Amino acid sequence: MPNYFALIPAAGYGARMGNQLPKQYLTLAGQPMIYHAIRTFCESSQIKRVFIVLSPQDPGWKKYDWRAFSGKLSMLYCGGETRAESVLNGLNAAAGRFAIESSDWILVHDAARPLLTQSQLGQLIDELADDAVGGLLAVPVADTLKRSGPDARVLQTEPRENLWQAQTPQMFRYAMLLEALNNVPELSITDDASAIEAMGYHPKLVHNTSDNFKITYPQDLALAERIMQQRNQS
Ligand code: C5P
Repeated sequence: MPNYFALIPAAGYGARMGNQLPKQYLTLAGQPMIYHAIRTFCESSQIKRVFIVLSPQDPGWKKYDWRAFSGKLSMLYCGGETRAESVLNGLNAAAGRFAIESSDWILVHDAARPLLTQSQLGQLIDELADDAVGGLLAVPVADTLKRSGPDARVLQTEPRENLWQAQTPQMFRYAMLLEALNNVPELSITDDASAIEAMGYHPKLVHNTSDNFKITYPQDLALAERIMQQRNQS
């Protein structure tokens, strides 16, 4: 039976948040944002180990107490210039630390998606466990889409049929993901599925809800705070 490993790239700076501190360390529900995703993975009985990819110059990790998760967590100080480079470096470093088989599953998850729930994670794993390629959580696009010119005036309306917003986790076999990221022409791709697609595969889209959104702008943090409060009350 293959093992399941989580890999969380957390070596970005989150420039769009307009904050000095990398966004994974901004406070959400009394904890650094990244804490929440780590907890979801560490509390899942299906996940064997959780790798965190940090920048070699990481300014925040050691300020917090991670002992609650120490049985499952490994920190890898090998983040790169882009997200894809951080994931690729992380895959190589993880295999140096831990016995990972080529057919083991890797679930790559953004540090900036703190609202992933245990049931969303379980559904992704269940739907993909027997899949030949792997896939990702995603949401069908609900809004009408406009394409603009550089002046923010509409050039055309794009059909939204069959369009999805990609989320994470994105789940692929270790060897396939490593090969895909090693061969991808542009390490500026913004998700792992793009690298798999560049090899000619078709990752499966696992229907999710929009609450697993990525914290990108300051208002996203306030919304995440409210959702967490509601979840804690119910
Ligand atoms: O900036 P963005 O929100 O797209 O980043 C998505 C995820 O990729 C975040 O968890 C971020 O820390 C990570 N990342 C990284 N290395 C980079 C850039 C982003 O690990 N060079």
